Amino acid sequence: MASVDIVSVHKHFGTTHVIRGIDVAIADGEFCVLVGPSGCGKSTLLRMIAGLEEIGEGEIRIGGRVVNRVPPKARDVAMVFQNYALYPHMTVRDNMSFALMLAKTAKAEIARHVDRAAGILGLGDLLDRYPRQLSGGQRQRVAMGRAIVRDPQVFLFDEPLSNLDAKLRVAMRTEIRELHQRLKTTSIYVTHDQIEAMTMADTIVVMRDGIVEQTGAPLDLYDRPANTFVAGFIGSPTMNMLAGVARRDGASPRVSLAAGGDVLAPVATDDGREVLYGIRPEHLALGDPSSGLPGEVVVVEPTGADTQVVCRVGGQDLIAVLHDRVACRAGDRVGLRPDASRAHLFDRGSGARLAA
Ligand SMILES: Nc1ncnc2c1ncn2[C@@H]1O[C@H](COP(=O)(O)OP(=O)(O)OP(=O)(O)O)[C@@H](O)[C@H]1O
Ligand SMILES: [Mg+2]
Repeated sequence: MASVDIVSVHKHFGTTHVIRGIDVAIADGEFCVLVGPSGCGKSTLLRMIAGLEEIGEGEIRIGGRVVNRVPPKARDVAMVFQNYALYPHMTVRDNMSFALMLAKTAKAEIARHVDRAAGILGLGDLLDRYPRQLSGGQRQRVAMGRAIVRDPQVFLFDEPLSNLDAKLRVAMRTEIRELHQRLKTTSIYVTHDQIEAMTMADTIVVMRDGIVEQTGAPLDLYDRPANTFVAGFIGSPTMNMLAGVARRDGASPRVSLAAGGDVLAPVATDDGREVLYGIRPEHLALGDPSSGLPGEVVVVEPTGADTQVVCRVGGQDLIAVLHDRVACRAGDRVGLRPDASRAHLFDRGSGARLAA
């Protein structure tokens, strides 16, 4: 196991600057998730750690050793890809043995590693099958097995679950977490699924356009997003954002909303400052129209466990997620009451969080 340090790393493809100065320090044994929209540079960064892509500028260190010029094989990392990249003409056992055979590992030792990995992943009965004879989830496990047999310092995962159906994805998510708890191997996991990131990570790195927007523990990002991008990316359904103007005329700071009405501000800022008031759907309650922000119910969507209610407030649609079954229907007049202690305030120009 080893720490991974990414220090001021840049990457150009031709004239396009795709990684634009990234610093991330991943501790020994940590499970770090890189998340961000398509094209933000997640795979490129992972491939640079693996040695599959040259590092344009800056430094990557694995276990304290600079690896910029170390070939992939000598980096002691194992990568699991989205499409599994299994060899179709080889059995599961041979797929898992292959890297060790190339490394001229002794036969008995290979067998020992493969049996151990097969045991961990529940592949014992499938060792003589070919990839085409496996389900998607089983193939995914073989791809993981191929990484495990090498007993690397670092695991790199590039969207390994994106080809699986929703149910299997949730199950495999748990399996990968359990595996990490067992092996404690430093892991870097790429996804664009924020729920995967929230549930699996010790640390999440939110990327956009080749830079890091915020790094932190999942609940830190949820509770204190550094800007409107992270606020919108983490959490589902996404945070409601209302444009407004901060006021500090009264005893407590307030925000006058462009959609009409006003709310208690979570933090005091300059009088007249243009702000965005953020409130997550799960922190909005519905009451009668005489209290809270006046709105009209547009859609009611029960999901079973809870109910999503879309309300129109001054021409803007806000989503509320309610855990109780609700009696309201489209067309009802309601009052929306944000939980002031869970609200967020951002500068409208820069998008940066305004904190006390
Ligand atoms: N070999 C390449 N040559 C030129 N441009 C590339 C190359 N590889 C990636 N890019 C560009 O670099 C940017 C980052 O790509 P990357 O694959 O790292 O994104 P990503 O965050 O992994 O996206 P996704 O979630 O869609 O997988 C994209 O704009 C992509 O078009
Ligand atoms: Mg990618």
